[in-house]
Amino acid sequence: MDAPEIAIPHARPRTDYDAVIVGAGVIGLAVAWRAAQRGVRVALVDPEPGSGASHAAAGMLAPVTEAHYGEEQLLRLNLASARRYPEFVAELEEVSGTSAGFSAGGTLAVAFDSGDRAVLADLAEFHQRLGLASEPLTGRECRAHEPLLAPDVQSGLLVSGDHQIDNRMLIAALLTAIGRAHVQLHRERVAELLIEHDAAAGVRLADGRILHAQRVVLAAGCRSTSIPGLPSGVLPPIRPVKGQILRLSVPASAAPFLSHAVRGVVRGRQVYLVPREHGELVIGATVEEQGFDTQVTAGGVYELLRAAHGLVPDVGELPLTEVRAGLRPGSPDNAPILGATDLPGLIAATGHFRNGVLLTPITADAIAECLVTGQLPEEAAAFVPQRFGKELGRFAKKAAFA
Ligand code: GLY
Repeated sequence: MDAPEIAIPHARPRTDYDAVIVGAGVIGLAVAWRAAQRGVRVALVDPEPGSGASHAAAGMLAPVTEAHYGEEQLLRLNLASARRYPEFVAELEEVSGTSAGFSAGGTLAVAFDSGDRAVLADLAEFHQRLGLASEPLTGRECRAHEPLLAPDVQSGLLVSGDHQIDNRMLIAALLTAIGRAHVQLHRERVAELLIEHDAAAGVRLADGRILHAQRVVLAAGCRSTSIPGLPSGVLPPIRPVKGQILRLSVPASAAPFLSHAVRGVVRGRQVYLVPREHGELVIGATVEEQGFDTQVTAGGVYELLRAAHGLVPDVGELPLTEVRAGLRPGSPDNAPILGATDLPGLIAATGHFRNGVLLTPITADAIAECLVTGQLPEEAAAFVPQRFGKELGRFAKKAAFA
C-alpha cells in the first residue's frame, strides 16, 4: 500500500515512510528492494536513477583478480558478496521478468612484459597464501584459452570464480523489481537532510516536498557527504575517483571475440576487457583523482586503447561506441562504510570505491537487516563508520575550516 500523504494547511506536502534512501545507483536500488521485501515502507530519491557510477561501470565481479595486499578484510566481504550473486540474480530475474546479464565465464589475468610478469607472479603468490583459487598459465596456455591474445603475452592466471554482470541490465532489473515491491521512487534532488530532536528525520526535496522517516540511508556514492544538512564528522570524507571507460561493439563476424573477462598488466598499467554476450566489449578504466570532473580526455582514451590493443591487437578493428567517465566513491581505506552513524536514524551504505557492483548483494542484505532489526550482520561489522574512531573528529575539524 502507498504511504499516506498528509495535507497540513500552509505546510509543505509531507509523506511518511519507514525509510528514505538517498541515491538510486545499484546500492540504493538493491537496498530499497531488499528492505521493501521485508515490509519496510521505502522512499528512494534520485534525480536520475542508475545514471552515475553504476551506469559507467564494467560490472566486474572479480574479488580474486582485484585482491590487494593489506585489504584482506575487504577481500572477505567481496568474496562473500560474490558467492551471493547467483542466488541474488536468480531471485531478481524471477521478480523482474528480465535478465540481469550475469555471466559466469571466469577471468583470465595476463602479463605483457617481464616486469608485468613479476607483478602477476606476486599476485599468484598472494592467492596461494590466502588459499584463493587461481591457476598459473604460460603465455601459450593463455592463448589456448583466448586465441586473440597477442604473442607478447608472457603468462597468466586463470580465475574461474571471478565473473561479470552487465551493470546496465542489472539496473533495469532492479528498477522493475523496486516498482513491483512498491518502493516509491522520487526522481528529484535532495535539498536537505532533515534533523529533528538530534536525529535524522527525512529529507526535503528540491521541489519542496518533505519525505519524513525515522531512518535515512545515505547511498549517494561520491556525493554522499555533500548532502546539505549532513553534520560534519558523522561520516569520513567520500571522494570522487574518476574512471574513464570505453565501450566497443563486436560485430557478429568477429564473435566470439573473447570468452573470458581479460585483465592485463601492460607495461605496469592495469586494463580490463569485459565481453558481453550481446556483443559489447567494455574496456576500463583509468583511476584519477580529479575531483568531480567527468571530462573524457584524449590521454585517458589513448592509454586504455594502447594497453588493450597491446593485449588483443584485433581491438583496433572494432567500432568504438561510447567513451565516458564515472566517479567511484572512494573512502579513506578503500572499503565501504556500512551501518548506523553517530547521528541517530542515519545509516550509511556508501564508499564502495571499486567494488560497488560486486558488493551490491551483501550491502543490500546488511542494510535491510539494519533497517528491520537495528543490527548490522556480523559479516559487515568491520565496515561501520565508527571504525575511523578519533579520525572522524579530525575530519569534522577539517570540514569546519574548509
Ligand atoms: N572495479 C573496476 C574499477 O573500478 O575500475
